[in-house]
Amino acid sequence: MKDIAGMDELYRDFILDHYRNPRNAGTLEHPDASFEDVNPLCGDKIRMDVSVRDGAVADVRFRGRGCAISQASASLLTEDIKGKSLAEVERLNADDVVANLGINISPARLKCALLGLKVLKHALALEYQPTEEEKAYPDGQPS
Ligand code: FES
Repeated sequence: MKDIAGMDELYRDFILDHYRNPRNAGTLEHPDASFEDVNPLCGDKIRMDVSVRDGAVADVRFRGRGCAISQASASLLTEDIKGKSLAEVERLNADDVVANLGINISPARLKCALLGLKVLKHALALEYQPTEEEKAYPDGQPS
């Protein structure tokens, strides 16, 4: 991994590509969960819409305004979580977000990087009503 200060061109281009061409940008028409929050340090914001089927993320869209790290992290996160069970999403942490970015970041920039994950987790924890089956099998149905 590279430090952001010494970020080589490859990583900078990778992050800037996600910033300029965010994957899964926009909103869902009928999301099962939706949440928006800001980074209190700067006011940058992200909204996440999630649709859930059979205990897994079926689709996700995000919309936001902020620095390259926050928007690229959210873009990468949306790619990462499609098809994941709700329990797998719940277990995602800062290490996963940093691994997605592929660079080491300072504690101040970590707040930027984690904004999308915070919003996603709040959407699912506060806005989503799991079915009885999803409560019984949070990692998906046993095969
Ligand atoms: Fe605001 Fe990064 S500077 S989220």
